[in-house]
Amino acid sequence: MKILIVGGGGREHAIAATVAKSKKVSKIYCAPGNAGIGMVAECVPIGAMEFDKLVAFATEKAIDLAIVGMDDPLVGGLVDAFEAAGIRAFGPRKNAAILEGSKAFSKDLMKKYNIPTAAYENFDNAEEALAYLETATMPIVLKADGLALGKGVLICNTLEEAKEGVKSIMLDKQFGTAGNRMVIEEFMTGREVSVLSFVDGKTIKTMTSAQDHKRAGDGDTGLNTGGMGTFSPSPFYTEEVDDFCKKYIYQATVDAMAAEGREFKGIIFFGLMLTPNGPRVLEYNDRFGDPEAQVVLPRMKNDIIEVMEACIDGTLDQVDLQFEYNAAVCVVLASAGYPVAYEKGKLMTGFEAFEGKDDVFCFHAGTKLTDAGIVTNGGRVLGITAKGADLKEARAKAYAATEWISFEGKYMRHDIGAAIDEA
Ligand code: AMP
Ligand code: GLY
Repeated sequence: MKILIVGGGGREHAIAATVAKSKKVSKIYCAPGNAGIGMVAECVPIGAMEFDKLVAFATEKAIDLAIVGMDDPLVGGLVDAFEAAGIRAFGPRKNAAILEGSKAFSKDLMKKYNIPTAAYENFDNAEEALAYLETATMPIVLKADGLALGKGVLICNTLEEAKEGVKSIMLDKQFGTAGNRMVIEEFMTGREVSVLSFVDGKTIKTMTSAQDHKRAGDGDTGLNTGGMGTFSPSPFYTEEVDDFCKKYIYQATVDAMAAEGREFKGIIFFGLMLTPNGPRVLEYNDRFGDPEAQVVLPRMKNDIIEVMEACIDGTLDQVDLQFEYNAAVCVVLASAGYPVAYEKGKLMTGFEAFEGKDDVFCFHAGTKLTDAGIVTNGGRVLGITAKGADLKEARAKAYAATEWISFEGKYMRHDIGAAIDEA
């Protein structure tokens, strides 16, 4: 089969590396890809939002399956565009991708179908939102309705902060049109866990759990980022938690989408908060997490193409999804200054140390191949990932491997997986 992967981050490198292991695959293209993806796929310089060019390319190359890894093209309807041209595509159609595309939609869905989540109100004008805050309990959480690169969430400790937040989201449009509507919701406490799943419209099969580290600095300080590192599985995702989520969250979400006439096929990523009152949904995403994919996919035993085809064909009930009984840790190497301002184009060295290893991986995010060699090309640069018999071994191996790579301004958190020690 000929595969086209749309995207060019660490997640897409992890997807490409997993697709490359499939016996069914003869050729992989990736648009736009990056330097690391270029080692397992042919990268084509087409952006993920250039739908016409992507469809024309897929048609010309007779692509058998297009895999859309990113939220923006999914929410924009790229899967529909591929399908309209007769190309099989993995991922939700536009009418289902709204599960991530609109936080107001997802909150209303959860309320209507009794799926546990934080109490909330939706607003489409700033005056009403500001008036609501006067009677609300602090801290409180403000969320821009639309996609905002994972940055559209503000946690406010005081009324003043919350009012400023409403103004910056709804009036100053800090997150652009994503802030035309907003959700104001109850602040929850607890541990966060990510659970990714394959969905075929009716059946859902969850993958192993993972935990991200969203803040830029050690000890969960600093600004929110796309994710600075992950570990999998989460020792806090117990059998009891799994039972609860199976009973009240996972199938309920798939059934709710079907009942709304928005059949969901693809990946649902459940962002969960394990509160003192039980698990609650923080958010839904329509795609693999980044860098959750980097610790989940290397542990998957199945042929990913078979699983994706089962999602499209509605035969996921016949798939026995299996993961290795081990653990993985991913430490993101970023550019100094991320997530605010950072330089690009720094020459990187040390990649050869990863060659031929099957338990330590260097997933590329913001990298580019130039005549001089591989250079940095983004905020998150690499996801150094290791598998181990347990989380502690995986963490030690991943941190050891972060030393193999050198570039000016290399920045990382030093406490990815520190929570493991408390488990
Ligand atoms: P989201 O994009 O909705 O996952 O939000 C980003 C991050 O904000 C989450 O990973 C949480 O750390 C935090 N967050 C979101 N909603 C809440 C909430 N209701 N209570 C506490 N923290 C939250
Ligand atoms: N790591 C969080 C996300 O992919 O949204």
